[in-house]
Amino acid sequence: KMAPQDLKKRAWEIKKELGNRLFIPGHHYQKDEVIEFADATGDSLQLAQVSAENQDAEYIVFCGVHFMAETADILTGDHQTVVLPDMRAGCSMADMANMEQTERAWQKLQETFGDTIIPLTYVNSTAEIKAFVGKHGGATVTSSNAHKMLKWALSQKKRVLFLPDQHLGRNTAFDLGIPLEEMIVWNPISDEFEGPTENLDDMQMILWKGHCSVHENFRMQHIHDLREKEPDRHILVHPECTHEVVTASDYNGSTKYIINKIKEAPPGSKWAIGTEMNLVNRLIQVHTDKDIVSLNPEMCPCLTMNRIDLPHFVWSLDQIVSGKPVNKIKVDAEKSALAKTAIERMFQFV
Ligand code: 13P
Ligand code: SF4
Repeated sequence: KMAPQDLKKRAWEIKKELGNRLFIPGHHYQKDEVIEFADATGDSLQLAQVSAENQDAEYIVFCGVHFMAETADILTGDHQTVVLPDMRAGCSMADMANMEQTERAWQKLQETFGDTIIPLTYVNSTAEIKAFVGKHGGATVTSSNAHKMLKWALSQKKRVLFLPDQHLGRNTAFDLGIPLEEMIVWNPISDEFEGPTENLDDMQMILWKGHCSVHENFRMQHIHDLREKEPDRHILVHPECTHEVVTASDYNGSTKYIINKIKEAPPGSKWAIGTEMNLVNRLIQVHTDKDIVSLNPEMCPCLTMNRIDLPHFVWSLDQIVSGKPVNKIKVDAEKSALAKTAIERMFQFV
């Protein structure tokens, strides 16, 4: 077992040795100990874009979660190998929609709504769900372009099946002026709608019953406590939080939006942020002239993001150097082509 400083030294050596043959994207929710080595940092949209632009690197060591590495594989060439330093770095939200459930749901929705529905999926979904959406004329969305993409979808069809995050779907639709009464939840476990079904034809949003287990940890009680104790603290949350939390907060937006909001905030201003712990901690460290706390005082780590740690990262680099790369992420060709259709529909708008 190597000491952290030796692991870091080894990582820098390998980066130097491989040069442009290696590219390391890192999501904002990653640990500092790996972000230090990232060639590009970003939210999920930015990372998808930089992966698509980089056609030179032979190896892309993706510091993020499985669905992001799949997207990188879909967007990069056959001559490029995407590696995920720890295969257990999944996403509980992406796991809430599988193909069997989605096929069953789609069949029921076709019977109910005919040809008046189009699917959209948050990029936080597996490649096969993206492929399904691509096949049925839909597109992917990220938290930073969800409004644009939902507007587009509703210009195509009367209603949208939004996978797999009900909260991002509900919050985005609400912002576009769609009343909550015109949204209904689809439960993929019971294969049924949740809630009253007498006015199904009015429904514009069919929200897949999935959520992010990190962002659901920011609750109304935290907002009430804070408003009472510190009414001058601004509350800024990610739209993966529940609708009531988003509505009760002062600002909401994607990871990129949160970072920019804090960057632009005046010195001395006070903030409570509702998003993943590593990002909140980094903002606290970087913006020492502002008073920043987590909206949930217990902090909310994403356990799977955190599985990419320094030992796994260096191990995956070492394996590349020794000619035996591990944890290669390869989406099969047919799925990859369909998923790419869905992603490229999104790229037309951003
Ligand atoms: P964004 O990077 O699109 O803000 O998504 C947040 C997230 O939960 C990533 O897993
Ligand atoms: Fe998935 Fe939420 Fe973790 Fe993002 S923060 S990877 S959506 S569980």
